[in-house]
Amino acid sequence: MLDRLLPVDAFPARRVTEAMRYAALGQGKRLRPFLVVESAALFGVPRAQALRTGAALECVHCYSLVHDDLPAMDDDDLRRGKPTAHKAFDEATAILAGDALLTHAFEILADEATHPDAAVRVALISKLARAAGVAGMVGGQMLDIEAETANAAELAHIGLIQSLKTGALFRYACEAGAILGGADPAPLIRYAQKIGLAFQIADDILDVESTPEALGKATQKDKAMGKATFVDLLGMDEAKRRAAALVDEAVESLSVYGEKARVLDEAARFIVERRK
Ligand code: IPE
Ligand code: IPE
Ligand code: MG
Ligand code: MG
Ligand code: MG
Repeated sequence: MLDRLLPVDAFPARRVTEAMRYAALGQGKRLRPFLVVESAALFGVPRAQALRTGAALECVHCYSLVHDDLPAMDDDDLRRGKPTAHKAFDEATAILAGDALLTHAFEILADEATHPDAAVRVALISKLARAAGVAGMVGGQMLDIEAETANAAELAHIGLIQSLKTGALFRYACEAGAILGGADPAPLIRYAQKIGLAFQIADDILDVESTPEALGKATQKDKAMGKATFVDLLGMDEAKRRAAALVDEAVESLSVYGEKARVLDEAARFIVERRK
């Protein structure tokens, strides 16, 4: 679906469409679209609608990675086992490809094929705008960068950074299923808050314990860059305990759905047990 929805060479600026496809179609885990599809499945939403919404969210996620890797940000050379977009192309092309992926997400959501009801499409669009913007991912990235130069950050502040930079897109992934299905999003939002946090703790643990070969991106970077992470503040053992407890709480949040939420329970476990 994502492949089909991304521009090919219909535009004169072919270089930027190549960079968009390069950044979006690599070996990503596709976790966020998976969560959209599985949360939408709880409410019997047609699969094509969920896939389009998931593809839009993945475009935003991939744009965030392209910009996160830029020299002015985390300055990384490896992403998903390949050179980062600015290495494979150049910095200007990577910046533009990120911009284009972001706007493309909203083009996908605004299309009638995403949902026949315009009010549902507007809800999907405004929630994604909020999750991606200054009240969400971008705001979290700003605090993440500011924390590099601050003295040891407090637990509450790290929690805030993570809930914005990573948590906001996870929340959207789960909430979108309920929006598409016209259902109460509250249990899914609770679940998403838990797994979003557990996901970023796992990312920080893998930065310390994994290798670039296994992970497909550089490791041992957070400490070198002075990033504020849970591992840094709590120590490795407590960070792992915290992540495991969050998974239990996430599963508990979905008890109202009974057996139907089995796959989402498994996804929560995967998030902390993953090796990449
Ligand atoms: C990495 O996200 C960025 C963070 C929010 C920590 P993922 O680990 O989901 O990256 P891909 O999509 O699988 O490459
Ligand atoms: C980035 O967090 C989260 C984004 C919003 C892209 P990280 O900087 O820890 O992500 P990785 O480790 O580079 O994937
Ligand atoms: Mg970063
Ligand atoms: Mg990074
Ligand atoms: Mg990281």
